[in-house]
Amino acid sequence: MTPRRGELTRRGFLAGATGAAAVLALAGCGPFGFRAPVNTVGRVDFRNPLHIPPLAESVQDGGARVFDLVAQAGRSAIVPSGTAETWGINGPLLGPTLRAHRGEQVRIRFRNDLPVPTTLHWHGMHLPAVADGGPHQMVAPGETWEPGWKVAQPAASLWYHPHPHGETEIHVYRGMAGLFILDDDDEAALPLPRTYGVDDIPLIVQDKTFDASGGLIETGRGNIGMLGDTILVNGTLAPVLDLTAERTRLRILNGSTARSYAFGFSDDRGFHLIATDGGLLREPVPVRRVTLTPGERAEIVLAATGGESITLRSFPQDLGLSGGAADMAGANDELDLLLLRAAATLTPSAQLPAHLAEIAPLTPPHELDWRKFDLRGVQINGKTMDMARIDTVVELDTTEVWEVRNSDGQPHNFHVHDVQFQILDLDDAAPPPELSGWKDTVYLPPGRRVRLIMRFTDYADPAVPYMYHCHLLWHEDLGMMGQFVVVEPGQAPVAPGPETGHAH
Ligand code: C2O
Ligand code: CU
Ligand code: CU
Repeated sequence: MTPRRGELTRRGFLAGATGAAAVLALAGCGPFGFRAPVNTVGRVDFRNPLHIPPLAESVQDGGARVFDLVAQAGRSAIVPSGTAETWGINGPLLGPTLRAHRGEQVRIRFRNDLPVPTTLHWHGMHLPAVADGGPHQMVAPGETWEPGWKVAQPAASLWYHPHPHGETEIHVYRGMAGLFILDDDDEAALPLPRTYGVDDIPLIVQDKTFDASGGLIETGRGNIGMLGDTILVNGTLAPVLDLTAERTRLRILNGSTARSYAFGFSDDRGFHLIATDGGLLREPVPVRRVTLTPGERAEIVLAATGGESITLRSFPQDLGLSGGAADMAGANDELDLLLLRAAATLTPSAQLPAHLAEIAPLTPPHELDWRKFDLRGVQINGKTMDMARIDTVVELDTTEVWEVRNSDGQPHNFHVHDVQFQILDLDDAAPPPELSGWKDTVYLPPGRRVRLIMRFTDYADPAVPYMYHCHLLWHEDLGMMGQFVVVEPGQAPVAPGPETGHAH
């Protein structure tokens, strides 16, 4: 079977499972939109120590913290059957974890050693549009790009990934992604687990499909893109994490191109959600599941007892889809992700604080000024992305409400660059606690409407747009994206020439 780009075929490949042949039939596939749910519960032979992405080194230069990042192609032995051509930053797969403190000036020296142009986008970061790393900041092979900005937002787990128009999905799929952790004094004063790699663990969750010789299969797209049946965490197949503390903070990034996950544990225990995309919640929220669609992050705190083993699992999830669409989106898949093995004796951890952060609700402007975004097919408001068109002009220092509706039968989410937003309501209902903090990406089930409130501050540039888009990367690549500029009051936008980006 050699599926071509765009075909509705899936492979039932399950590297890392015991008796892989026995489960090859698990992922049924058919050419007309039929896809049987995949279930790997109890079938993953967890045996590889979870890779912890190293903290990126930095140097001080002229008052700035400077990171050197190099995009590079390489080979990675991910599955036992061979090696894959992969892309990474400062290594062949994924990238280091960047870390900076609120108030710090940061600068990145990003060199592109890939054979093709790419970009590096700082997802969730408040920064000037020229530093955003979107499709207008292409970096040619061999060139270096040096964006800089001052970190001016709360502690959060952000991430970075390429954003070349039409090719983001494949660049991320091949391995270009990493975490960007922001710290601040308020978070540092809380009794939370925060020793990186010990009781504070990044989890970059991604699905892949491998061929018989261990290479990545980059074809086989359904309506939402590629769904792989092999789940990697931090690039590790069948990963095991040894827990050493009574409480462990897991910073989970859904770094998949299309797949959503409903995270929970094999014994169905409760745990606490402490942060979402843009930082800490007001207080820890007790939950049994955390659903993340592509691009979303969550920080959770898991309590363990000495000697136990539990599995982080993705459970069947309610994405608000009808039967066939739910199967096609992988919503009924049940996937074992990571084995957590607690030491016999655990180091004591502090109790979780009752209160985490202040989040002042933003005040909505007059309803007549609210903007509407309608998602349908791979269009936003009836249009696909045009690099030379500014879709939305925002005035600096204003608070806006963006009303986003999914008028489609397919799942979509919505991501806005430059800002963190609050959710005003979901179909007129107040957001649940897990959607009551800062967010930059939000899921939209078919037929539902969400109203986002956000404030545009600090950076105006009439000529360089930021993006908003569906973060299902195949949809984004097909054009489910728009451009906005932030301008000084009275300033006119300047349409970017298509030549400022990479030709498509
Ligand atoms: Cu995570 Cu516009 O991207
Ligand atoms: Cu982004
Ligand atoms: Cu979409």
